[in-house]
Formats: sequence, structure tokens, C-alpha cells
Amino acid sequence: MASPDIVYVNGNFVPRSDARVSVEDRGFVFGDGVYEVLRAINGRFFATRFHNDRLRRSLEGIRISLQGSDTPERFVEIGKQLLKENGLLQGEATLYMQVTRGAATRVHTFPGADVPATVYISVARFNPYRDFAASGASAISHPDLRWGRCDLKTLNLLPNVLASQAAKEKGAFEAMLIRDDVVTEGAKTNFFGVVHGTLRTHPCDNHILPGVTRSVLRDLAREVGVEFEEAPIRVDEIPRLTELFLTGTTTDVMPIVSLDDKPIGKGKPGELTRKLQKVLAESLASGGD
Ligand code: PDD
Repeated sequence: MASPDIVYVNGNFVPRSDARVSVEDRGFVFGDGVYEVLRAINGRFFATRFHNDRLRRSLEGIRISLQGSDTPERFVEIGKQLLKENGLLQGEATLYMQVTRGAATRVHTFPGADVPATVYISVARFNPYRDFAASGASAISHPDLRWGRCDLKTLNLLPNVLASQAAKEKGAFEAMLIRDDVVTEGAKTNFFGVVHGTLRTHPCDNHILPGVTRSVLRDLAREVGVEFEEAPIRVDEIPRLTELFLTGTTTDVMPIVSLDDKPIGKGKPGELTRKLQKVLAESLASGGD
């Protein structure tokens, strides 16, 4: 028997095919909302506190208020219920939660306080990219055409969508975004690179999403004696990269072995990448929080 496919919309658990939001929803019309993606392993969510804090910051950043007893923590509880309802308590899954500024006649300014936020939560089976994780993947560089608040996880993903599609059409796993001659992040990942023996990643500012995996990895890396510098990698430093890897909720630590068809380092996953890949995998396997 096929597993049920139950999602949560505005207070109700319903089959996905019966789930409805208004055509006037501001998420649909303006991309006026925020989201989070969490990883679940054997029914336990990973790094929940980081995701909840970021969802709160994203909501505050675009001035959306949750109604009544709604909180990010409550959404995660709903996520747990969805894992159960959908038979996903074993193995790998993802949780998607999205909040928009609600449904109202189209005007650019905010609707009245009486218009409730729209809340949509769903879960899905997830298959980690095991082959790429083992062999390494390729990436392309692409202009970073995003707005000035990339630190908020908003639904406005058009530049990310276009960059991801450009990568796909070139047979690459990810697009590395370039703004003002520095690599900011991937279209759906943060990145780390080794230049002159030092591990570096872009500092957390308004040009990147403060990735949960990035934060978790920073703490895990310290525990195994690896420090990294929060400093941008310039485009002219790319030829000097000896290792490059991506991080993300659905990417883990993903080695990048070629960029724009040129090998990174020896064209295979580097030593530091392997070490950090292992510590993150162990942390995920130990059950998260
Ligand atoms: N993407 N940078 C961007 C632009 C992202 O969209 C993501 C996550 C990350 C990594 O963040 P985290 O480690 O918290 O997943 C960095 C999610 C998974 C997505 O949009 O599907």
C-alpha cells in the first residue's frame, strides 16, 4: 500500500491533493514569505534550535507575525506528527515549513493585522547524494543576482532557481555565486575552500544565508582541531584553491572537484574535506537534537 501523503495547511492535516491556499496568497503573488528546510533521520530532526532561531529571524526580518500559539517550535512538533502520519519515522526525510503574509487583495503594502499568516508544512522522503559525496561533484560560477538581504531565508528564490538551472544545463551540481569579484555562496549551499593551507568561508553578512550546516560544522571542526577563517575568497584566488566543498541541510559536506571545468586541487576530494565530511556524518548519525 502506498504511504499516505499528509501535509499541514493553516491548522489542518490534509491529504496533499486536498491542500488549498488562496490564489491571492502573498506567497503566490509576491513571494512574500519565508521558509526552512530541516533534515530528519529516523524520526529525529537535526539542529532544530538553529533552524527555529533562523525562522524567527527571517520572520522578524520581513515583519511577519505568527498567530496565536504558533511558534517555530510548534511547527517542528507538527513536523514530527507529519513524519508519523506519512510513515517516515525510519530513514531519511526532510521537513519543509513555509510562512507567508497571508491572502488578501493584491496591493504591495502589508494587509491588515486581521489577515492571518499562511502556514504550510510538509515532509518528504530524502535520498542523500551518496555518489557525489564519495566521488566529488562539479560546479559552475554564476553571477549573484540576488537582493541585499540574502541573510533572510525568503521565498524569493528566482536568482537561485536560474543559477541552479544554469548549473544543471552544464551537468554541474551547483552554481557558485559571484558578487563584486568574490564567491558568496552556492545557489542552495554555503561553501568552504582551502587557500594556502587555510580553510576559509564567506563571513556571515547580508550577502549570504547563515547556513545551519555551516554553523554546526564550525563547532564540529573546532572539536577536531580545525579552525576556519571567515574571509571572502576572491575570484582571482580560485586557481589557488586546493580544496572546495559545499555545506547544506540536503548536501551535508559535498566535495567539489571541478569548477567551470577546471580541476580543484588534484581533482579529487581533499583531506580536510574528507575529515569534515566524516565528522558531520557522525553527528547526523548520532541523532541530532
Ligand atoms: N537551502 N545558502 C542558500 C542560498 C541556501 O538556500 C541554503 C539552504 C544554504 C545552506 O543552509 P543550511 O545549511 O541551513 O541548509 C545556504 C535549502 C536546503 C533549500 O533551499 O532547499
